Amino acid sequence: MRTPIVAGNWKLNGTRASARSLAQSIVDGLSQLHDALRVIVCPTFVHLGEVAEVTAGTPLALGAQDAADQQSGAFTGEVAAPMLAEYGCRYVIIGHSERRHVYGESDTLTAAKYAAVQAAGLTPIYCVGETLEERESGTTQSVVARQLRAVRDLLGDTCFADAVIAYEPVWAIGTGRTASPEQAQDVHSFIRGEVPDAQSLSILYGGSVKPGNAGELFAMPDIDGGLIGGAALDAADFLAICAATRMEQ
Ligand code: 13P
Repeated sequence: MRTPIVAGNWKLNGTRASARSLAQSIVDGLSQLHDALRVIVCPTFVHLGEVAEVTAGTPLALGAQDAADQQSGAFTGEVAAPMLAEYGCRYVIIGHSERRHVYGESDTLTAAKYAAVQAAGLTPIYCVGETLEERESGTTQSVVARQLRAVRDLLGDTCFADAVIAYEPVWAIGTGRTASPEQAQDVHSFIRGEVPDAQSLSILYGGSVKPGNAGELFAMPDIDGGLIGGAALDAADFLAICAATRMEQ
């Protein structure tokens, strides 16, 4: 039995006031959804305090979009996982394609960040996915396997036991071009085969998920929910995507 999860990645958006009001609208709407669903929002670091005030004591869980590979020290501009825990974060997105491809973060750094998040007692939402060029050259599986192996080499076979994995094909992020349910299912099933004891691992799909396509994606047997970008900034759209999850995984 796997937990259905929908996580909103708010990326670099919002103001203190809009972050608070978006979180409040989601909290208000959650009572209409089934209890088994886990819903997470990931605002920018500087909006965590505002959003934490809204989510405290509610079923809406708080996550961050990244964390440092270090716990403390002379690392200007970084935010450490224990600091996020202090704000009530339970989840941290690690290895998002925008970190990997826009900011050039390596597999090694990404794996070290993953380790730092787990060491702080938080749950990584570990993103993997191929570029368009990699898909077209037929290397999707080897790219995803390499991204998974980076963490496993550092932390061992049990590293994904309490984690969440998100498959986000880079070519589908923010482009309006979604992977077909079959394309996504193929990679999700591959990921489950690569991770030891993965039957209870929640694997989310991300990349242009909208209310109109969420149902067919979430109907696939190895897609346990979504990591949502643009549509997570609109409470009604985000809640509609939450409502499209299956109760039985
Ligand atoms: P979009 O839903 O805007 O394509 O973004 C997906 C994503 O990157 C979530 O982390």
